[in-house]
This record gives sequence, C-alpha cells and structure tokens, in this order.
Amino acid sequence: MAIHTLLFSLVTALAGAQAVTVYGQAGQQPIGTSTGSATSALPSSTSAAYDTLVLNPPPLPNPLPPNQFGVQLAADAVNVNGLSIPQSGAFFGFSVEMSVVNQVIGLNGSYIHPPFLNLMALVAERAGRVHVRVGGNTQEEARMVMSLPDGKAIEKQKVDTNNPTQTPALLYTPEILYLLANISSLVNVKWYLGVPLNDTANLRLEIAQYGEQILGDNLIGLQVGNEPDLYARHQHRPETYGPFDYFGEFGNVLGAMKSMGLPRTNLLLGPSLATGDWTPEMVWDTGFIQAYSDALGALTVEHYPDDNCAALYEGFGDPVDPQTEFSKFLDHTAGWNMIGQYINSTQIAQQAGKPFIMFETNSASCGGFPGISTSFGATLWALDYGLTMASANFSHALLHVGGQNVYYNPFTAPPTNETHFHQWTIGPIFYSVLAVSETLGSSNNSRIIDLGANSGNVYTPGYAIYENEKLARLAFVNFMTDPSGANDYTVTISIDGGETGRPAATPAQIKVKYLVAPSVGEKFNITWGNQTFGGQFESDGRLKNDLHIETIQCDQAANTCQVKVPAPGFALVFMSEEAAAESEPTSTATFGTTAITKIKNTATIDEAVLATSNGNKGMEQYSGSTSFGSNAAARVTGAHPSVMALLAVAAGTVVVLRAFYRDI
Ligand SMILES: *[C@@H]1O[C@H](CO)[C@@H](O)[C@H](O)[C@H]1NC(C)=O
Ligand SMILES: *[C@@H]1O[C@H](CO)[C@@H](O)[C@H](O)[C@H]1NC(C)=O
Ligand SMILES: *[C@@H]1O[C@H](CO)[C@@H](O)[C@H](O)[C@H]1NC(C)=O
Ligand SMILES: *[C@@H]1O[C@H](CO)[C@@H](O)[C@H](O)[C@H]1NC(C)=O
Ligand SMILES: *[C@@H]1O[C@H](CO)[C@@H](O)[C@H](O)[C@H]1NC(C)=O
Ligand SMILES: *[C@@H]1O[C@H](CO)[C@@H](O)[C@H](O)[C@H]1NC(C)=O
Ligand SMILES: *[C@@H]1O[C@H](CO)[C@@H](O)[C@H](O)[C@H]1NC(C)=O
Ligand SMILES: *[C@@H]1O[C@H](CO)[C@@H](O)[C@H](O)[C@H]1NC(C)=O
Ligand SMILES: *[C@@H]1O[C@H](CO)[C@@H](O)[C@H](O)[C@H]1NC(C)=O
Repeated sequence: MAIHTLLFSLVTALAGAQAVTVYGQAGQQPIGTSTGSATSALPSSTSAAYDTLVLNPPPLPNPLPPNQFGVQLAADAVNVNGLSIPQSGAFFGFSVEMSVVNQVIGLNGSYIHPPFLNLMALVAERAGRVHVRVGGNTQEEARMVMSLPDGKAIEKQKVDTNNPTQTPALLYTPEILYLLANISSLVNVKWYLGVPLNDTANLRLEIAQYGEQILGDNLIGLQVGNEPDLYARHQHRPETYGPFDYFGEFGNVLGAMKSMGLPRTNLLLGPSLATGDWTPEMVWDTGFIQAYSDALGALTVEHYPDDNCAALYEGFGDPVDPQTEFSKFLDHTAGWNMIGQYINSTQIAQQAGKPFIMFETNSASCGGFPGISTSFGATLWALDYGLTMASANFSHALLHVGGQNVYYNPFTAPPTNETHFHQWTIGPIFYSVLAVSETLGSSNNSRIIDLGANSGNVYTPGYAIYENEKLARLAFVNFMTDPSGANDYTVTISIDGGETGRPAATPAQIKVKYLVAPSVGEKFNITWGNQTFGGQFESDGRLKNDLHIETIQCDQAANTCQVKVPAPGFALVFMSEEAAAESEPTSTATFGTTAITKIKNTATIDEAVLATSNGNKGMEQYSGSTSFGSNAAARVTGAHPSVMALLAVAAGTVVVLRAFYRDI
C-alpha cells in the first residue's frame, strides 16, 4: 500500500510538473484516409489493418540448407574486416503519415494516446531514444493555420480517390507540435518533420519555424521534398522536372530559411528519392552534397521492395496473389535485393560524413499485402532487412505507419467508434523493431557484419555485433517453417582458438532470446523472449507475459557453444552478461519490467471497465481492486532509479492518469 501511494504521488507529481494530461482514446477523431490507400474509412471488419487472411508457409526449399553449421569468430573487432559504421539501437524508427497523427499519436498537446507512449517507451528503454518522422505524401500540401473549427489540431481538406498520391490537403495548427513536444517530455522521442514542397514559389515554412521553436533539440531533421523523382510522373511538376530542378528548389528552401533567420539551418534532409524515376547518383552528380554540406543533416531515400497498387488502383495490371508473393519476403536476398542500389550511396554518405537514412519503407507500397504484411513472415523479413541495412552502413530506417487502411502498420489504433471497448492492434513488424534495438543495444557503438553464415545459405542468415570493439551479440534468422523440428538449425559458435592462432575465447555460458511463432503465416501468436502484445484489439502498448531468456552452457574445452534456431524464428545470442544487460535494462535490471507490471496492476484499467463506467465511478473503485505484492514492492524499492526506470514509470503513468482524469 505504501508503494501504491508512493507511485501514485510520483505519477501525480509528474503530471503536475509537466502539465501533461494523457487521455484515453475516447472521442478520437481520425481524419480519414491515409497515403497509399484510396479507400475511405471502413468498418473494422473490412479495414486492411484488420484483414484476416492467413497464408500458408511457402514449401521448404529444395535443396534444404544444412541444419548444422559452425561460425568461427574473433573476440576483438580489430581482427574483423568489413564491420559497419557504429550503429545505435535507434536504428529502426517510425514514419507516421502526417494525416494519421490524430489516429496514432494524439489529438493535441494535452491528449496523447497512451498506447503510443507505451510503445515508444519500449523502444526508448532498449535503444536510448526513438526516431519518429511525421510526414509522407500528405506533408506536401499541408498548411499551418492558427486555429481550426471545434479546436481540432489537424483536419483534411479533400481527396481524389483514384490517384495513389492525391492525398488530402492537410490543415494543422501549432498544437500538433505541442503534442510532439509533450511526448518528448515523457519519452525520449526525437522528431523529423517535412517541409511542404508542392509550391516552391510560395513556400510554407511554418513547420520549420514553429517546429524549431516548439520542439527545440527534439527536432532532428526537416525533410525537403518527398519522393521528388516522382513529381513529374504524378503531375506535381512539369514533365521536364529533373535532379537539377530539385537541387534548385532545395536551395530555395535553404535560402528562405536563412532569410527568415531560423536558428537551425543544418537539419535539412534530402533527396528522399523513391528511387523510382531517378537514381541517387543522378542527384549526387548535381553536386548536391558539396553544395549543401553545411545544411544537410542526413541523406535520405524512401523505398518499398514491392507494391500492391494493382489491388487498389486502375492501370497497374492484375493484382498479385499474396500467397505467390509470400516467398519473396522469406529469404535473405529480400533485404540485399532491396538495398543493392544504395551501397554506392552509403559509401558516398560515409565519405561526406553524413548519415544515410531509409526514410520511409515497409513491405509493399500501396498499403502492403494481406496475409504477408500482417504475418510473422513480415517480422522476420523486417528484422533481416533492418540488420542488412545496418551492415551496409545505413544509419536509420523508418517503418511507415499508414492508419486503418493499410496492412503493414507496426501498430494500429482501433476505429474511432470502437475506442471504448477495443485496444490497439500491434503489427508483426513492431517485434522486429524491438529485436533490432536489442541486437544493436544502447551504446551507439555497435558495429555489425553479415556473416554469410551456412555458406551464405539464404534461409539461415546470421550477423555478429561488436560493441565497444568486443564481440557482444550474434543474431540468426531461420526463414523456414517446419513444425516437425527437422529444419530447426544448430549453429556451433567458436571464438578465436584453432587456426586463428589466438587463444580460445568461448565463454562458459551465453544467453539466447528467441522471437518465435508457429508459422511464418501466423498473425498474433508471436513471442519475443516469451513476451507478446497479443491479438487484434488486445494491446495497450505494453508487453505481456514473463520475460524468458535461455542460458546455454558452452564447452570451453572444445571452444564451442551450440545455439538452436527454430523454423521459423530468430535467435539473439548474448555473448556476455554485459551485452545482455545493456540491450535490455528492463529484463536484467528488474526495475523497468517490474515497474510497468506493477503500475499496470495498480490501475487495472481495462478498456471494458472504462467503457461501462461512464466516468461516474470514483478512483477508489480502482484502488480497491488493486494490490501490490510485497515481493514486487521489495523489487521496486531495491532497484536503482535510472533514466530507463523513469521512462518505464512515465509509460506506466498513462494508464493511471487516464483513470484519474476520467473519474474526477
Ligand atoms: C463502427 O463503424 C463502422 C463503419 O461505420 C461499422 O461498420 C462498425 O460496425 C461500427 N462499430 C460499432 C461497434 O458500432
Ligand atoms: C484536446 O482534445 C480534447 C478531445 O478532443 C479536447 O477535449 C480538449 O479540449 C483539447 N485540448 C486543447 C487544449 O485543445
Ligand atoms: C503541452 O501542450 C500544451 C498545449 O496544448 C501546452 O500548453 C503545454 O505547455 C505543453 N506542456 C509541455 C510540458 O510542453
Ligand atoms: C499547394 O498546397 C497549398 C495548401 O494545400 C494549396 O493552397 C496550393 O494551391 C498548392 N499549390 C500548388 C501549386 O499546388
Ligand atoms: C557511385 O556514385 C558516384 C557519384 O554519382 C558515381 O560517379 C560512381 O560511378 C558510382 N559508382 C558505382 C560503382 O556505381
Ligand atoms: C560499411 O562501412 C565500413 C567502414 O567504412 C566498410 O568497411 C564496410 O565494407 C561497409 N559495408 C558495406 C556492406 O558496404
Ligand atoms: C547516442 O547518440 C545520441 C544522439 O547523438 C545521444 O543523444 C546519446 O546520448 C548517445 N548515447 C550514448 C550512450 O552515448
Ligand atoms: C503459439 O505458438 C507456440 C509456438 O511458437 C505454440 O507452442 C503455442 O501452442 C501457440 N499457442 C496458440 C494459442 O496457438
Ligand atoms: C511465459 O509467460 C507466462 C505468463 O507470464 C509464464 O507463465 C511462463 O512461465 C513464461 N514461460 C517461460 C518459459 O518463462
């Protein structure tokens, strides 16, 4: 009970000090359609995000990959060639289509969707921070106004339903920026915003001006132009529009920002090519990087490996059959095929000292594929794709969030009229984000290499991660599905020793965390270290279940450790206690997970309860139904407060606050 009071005052103090109220989702008013989909708002039963198609796993490959193989590794990075640039656990972030901000982020500075905060807190406590971009096609016609009717912070103007990029013109108020700023005061989220570029003769730079003012250091980039290589094709520019025209427009924006006296002109991002009609080289050859070196915060591209446009729009040919398409996502060539065209550019970016960012991506443009984008296959695909990009010296990759009408969302808020009794639906690629952040850890100093494991077999890729110059983690994927277990594979790890001429260095034991599901077709029974977000409409953005990490004894005499990787599945191998602890403060430091769980218990606010409470019941109703175990209390008091812990508490507050505010 003492702990209850303590936590509650902490929560109220936090709320008071920061003047942030976090409300539930009731009354949420999404503004409707999102980029990549022309369909209008549909009932949950038919919205893409809630599609029920479950695909069969593709047949096993022929020939089958060997199910036992070894990897020989050096303990020290100095003995390894080809390691990536230093990477951070915030490698994967999110790209939120501007028009769906009110669906997934919040309505205004004092109305934040709690599941969004919880999800961001999960990434931040692993990676140190989360990068979120607000933009997309809808940023191009966005216009800031000082106020909107009914106190709305964002509103759409119009939409043409048979043009993939004819997205609603958005009106927004500075309140949207307060929303983002207030989120950053609770969880370490850093924001990228997009400058509208539909009309270079009449630039609208308010987003830059107010963004810098309101977000301060939490603004980390301003995108100039979204997929300019498609402007001509989409009739947003004359047919002759080319890389030099973009070069000129970028300069116009920079010039205007300077003449407005904006304090930060070194945050600009470009060229954000879809890599559809131009190659990045065509832009580099204009002298873009040299000319704007001082202004460029990073170089960016946007790309999807596939598209489902034919299912939505006329003129794209016959729609593809997702079952046939599925296997394309389920081997290691998927990632490499996607990024091969950027390797030259990641090298050029490195030479220029600029990060290279995959600024918007997901499984397929035009909303993704039913059955694929919503499956555990997509989890493994995104994970392997992310680690491939990290190995190839991309610095970040942002997974796109498109709202109710797309299949590929990492997370989806319930339809507006169902927010009282439904929670969020966490998509399969959100697990990939957690897994990648734990693979890279929070030091900003992990270098990763694709091992070409199992003689480069594409169904069994593996990676080594050196952190602060020491081998810290290994990551292995098994893309196959075989419930018999015959295609689980066993990798035998040896550190130095043998022919290396260096003393054997295999540790006495290692830890392994698994990301598994029964099949690549599975939608919801996905667990990461035994934890899950559950099924459709089941999540408040926190992981459920007890964390479970396997400990494996090694054979130091033989200099080997054996790790099994299930078909299908992903195994993250921690080579030391520190590597495990640093990746996952919540699992090892005991405070984070405990705090989250306990605060959850404190509040026991179930949407179903709220839906029937009509706001008339007092807080005692809830406190009466909760209890902290003394065991848990001891664990909480014994923990060392840390930034992570505070984040965890902040994440927990949302539920309590919601109850608090609703009930008085
Ligand atoms: C929500 O709205 C959709 C579309 O109007 C409708 O199909 C669905 O049944 C509604 N849900 C509820 C619970 O009323
Ligand atoms: C935020 O949105 C909520 C829900 O629409 C509304 O009740 C509240 O007045 C808004 N707050 C501000 C400051 O606009
Ligand atoms: C949160 O947003 C509101 C605007 O709605 C603003 O008045 C308030 O100061 C913000 N709080 C913080 C901590 O930024
Ligand atoms: C650009 O977008 C703004 C705001 O939506 C609109 O008023 C304007 O007409 C557009 N300009 C062009 C050239 O498309
Ligand atoms: C890499 O890009 C540069 C700049 O555009 C170009 O000159 C060079 O030929 C490219 N190299 C390869 C291998 O594509
Ligand atoms: C990534 O950059 C490092 C350091 O420059 C280099 O050694 C490595 O070969 C690069 N990786 C790829 C795949 O280009
Ligand atoms: C990682 O990099 C970010 C961004 O530069 C920085 O804010 C953070 O403090 C760094 N973390 C560590 C552990 O150095
Ligand atoms: C969930 O998947 C696991 C294997 O990953 C399996 O053991 C378990 O029975 C499945 N549970 C349900 C409810 O399908
Ligand atoms: C997985 O979580 C459940 C529920 O919290 C727990 O009962 C079970 O023991 C956990 N499994 C393992 C292997 O730890």
